[in-house]
Amino acid sequence: MPTQRKILVTSALPYANGPIHLGHLLEYIQTDIWTRFQNSIGNQCTYVCADDAHGTAIMLRAEQEGITAQQLIDRVRVEHHEDFKGFQIHFDNYHSTHSDENRYFSELIYTRLRDKGHIATREIEQMYDPEKGLFLADRFIKGTCPKCGAEDQYGDNCEKCSATYTPAELINPRSAISGATPVMKSSQHFFFKLPDFADFLQSWTQDGRLQEQIANKLKEWFESGLQEWDISRDAPYFGFEIPDAPGKYFYVWLDAPIGYLASFKNLCDQREDLNFDDYWAPGSDAEVYHFIGKDIVYFHALFWPAMLEGAGFRTPNSINCHGFVTVNGAKMSKSRGTFIKARTYLDHLNPEYLRYYFAAKLTSRVDDLDLNLEDFVFRVNSDLVGKLVNIASRCAGFVKKGGGVLAPMSDAALYQRFVDAGDAIAADYDRREFGRALRQIMELADEANTWINDQAPWVLAKQEGKDAEVQAVCSTGINLFRVLMVYLAPVLPGMAGQTAEFLKIATLDWNSRSQPLENHAIEAFKPMMTRVESSQIEALLEASREDAEKEMALKQGAVAPVADGPLQKEPLAAEISFDDFIKVDLRIARIVKCEAVPKANKLLKLTLDLGGETRTVFSGIKSAYQPEDLEGKLTVMVANLAPRQMKFGLSEGMVLAAGDGEGIYLLEPHSGAQPGMRVV
Ligand code: MSP
Ligand code: ZN
Repeated sequence: MPTQRKILVTSALPYANGPIHLGHLLEYIQTDIWTRFQNSIGNQCTYVCADDAHGTAIMLRAEQEGITAQQLIDRVRVEHHEDFKGFQIHFDNYHSTHSDENRYFSELIYTRLRDKGHIATREIEQMYDPEKGLFLADRFIKGTCPKCGAEDQYGDNCEKCSATYTPAELINPRSAISGATPVMKSSQHFFFKLPDFADFLQSWTQDGRLQEQIANKLKEWFESGLQEWDISRDAPYFGFEIPDAPGKYFYVWLDAPIGYLASFKNLCDQREDLNFDDYWAPGSDAEVYHFIGKDIVYFHALFWPAMLEGAGFRTPNSINCHGFVTVNGAKMSKSRGTFIKARTYLDHLNPEYLRYYFAAKLTSRVDDLDLNLEDFVFRVNSDLVGKLVNIASRCAGFVKKGGGVLAPMSDAALYQRFVDAGDAIAADYDRREFGRALRQIMELADEANTWINDQAPWVLAKQEGKDAEVQAVCSTGINLFRVLMVYLAPVLPGMAGQTAEFLKIATLDWNSRSQPLENHAIEAFKPMMTRVESSQIEALLEASREDAEKEMALKQGAVAPVADGPLQKEPLAAEISFDDFIKVDLRIARIVKCEAVPKANKLLKLTLDLGGETRTVFSGIKSAYQPEDLEGKLTVMVANLAPRQMKFGLSEGMVLAAGDGEGIYLLEPHSGAQPGMRVV
């Protein structure tokens, strides 16, 4: 029995200002498959992640939506959770960088670095938005390119001519947030002295722990010299204040990787069998791997190990870096509908199709991965439905007819070859060569299908006295299928669960495959996966285009286009700006009490709970509702409408209802909405 490895893995922490999309999912799926595989072979592999909740982008997004940063990150956390659950990503813990643990470790690491002399302070000059009272990062400054004259370019580089420059060189610079002309302003900043760690990093990055492509990239960076890293930002900022430096905040990228420690610590506090220091103290014999995309290597392979080393923690064994997802050979594009959100995908397709497709194309290298939609349809249908599920569906009916109990197999040697192939497949999973692992599994599936064809149980079944042979052949087929599902379980956990039910087995762990199932009762077979149709892909692309349009409308301050529907009887009201719209504070309210108003033939008197606050509203909906039917229901109200004195009392707002002069329909949110939530 080989010794059990203790492994901690992480994926990069997604920003809490936007939804999970298929690009992100490559990483979470890759990490999830690796984790599931490690646990399947008997290692103790723990997977933690968190939302990356700090920074200017999150602060501005919240402002744009008219909510607080806290409300934004709370909402996005729920959305991310749903997306990950939908794709069967199993985290042992999912935390947030806006947490007590993260504040603790950020302060600890910072003060240790400071006390060892690795922090410098100095005044720097930066562009400042005098209207917003904000220092502007380069991407929040726009202007005319000093080289080619292209207008509307970002503060650090030109998308037209690719020139790089400083924001001060831009012609007619302006703040992308308020449009104001920025001024230069100086303030004190804190710097992490990365060059102090040059020798350490030289050997850390070149000792063979990193992928070759990454090690080479780092060599180039060393040659251009390591710079001190600006780790502070001025208020207003959504993040952690730096100890003893009022008004100065940790830059989001300082506390983001520390979020790995924070999430793990939070888990250790809930679990008896995990001890923080076993994993993070210097000299720890546990293994730590970070899965990341190629755009964030600098942070993970330079700043992060230097911070850990400087603050007295162990450093990761490796950084497992993947490339970027392209769709049909190009960058994901909103206008082509290939910028696909996790949620939109889940509305149209089975998540296991994508898990399989990504796995089939993943290697241990940093190359980009193309999601070619035609190939996607072809591969899923041919491999999963045509080859894999086919094995079980061809054999299960005969077993059922014969009594539903697996008989001793007719070809034990074939079965043993399937079992033996597992060692090479395991080695490929372990080194993240998922594509190669899956090719071997599909070759076995081909072999199983060919063997069943040769045995032709459907021919035997028509012959006298061949019943036992039919059972032996089909039981062999089912056992081969089970071995393949053991190999695929890390990729297809949902189907693995269905297989366990079908075969009435408790586990599909790697080693369980060595014992065949003989004289073992099974359930009736239910089809485990259906074919993908091209029409589903079309619908997904169309829905993604619509997502992009809605997002654009929000950004540009326009109102989202009205969905197609029956003819509108009332002409649309005059267009309003986003700023006008956002003035209306719509809230979810619970109707706690509802009474008819005597003498008023249209009005109902509603008592509304706004999440703690109570309001009375008179509404002209009596013709459509029995008062008691509305009690307990949720609806939407205008919460900041000036109170209006009516004949029967004071009305403190309005509830929303649709109507066409005939029917009246009170609006009701989907389940999950809570009183007091803002409607945007
Ligand atoms: N918040 C930072 C990470 C902090 S880690 C301490 C961040 N967030 S992100 O949401 O932009 O990206 C999360 C991960 O998804 C990153 O590893 C990133 O490389 C990956 N991807 C984002 N878009 C991607 C593709 N189109 N393709 C593949 N991976 C992509 O960066
Ligand atoms: Zn230019």
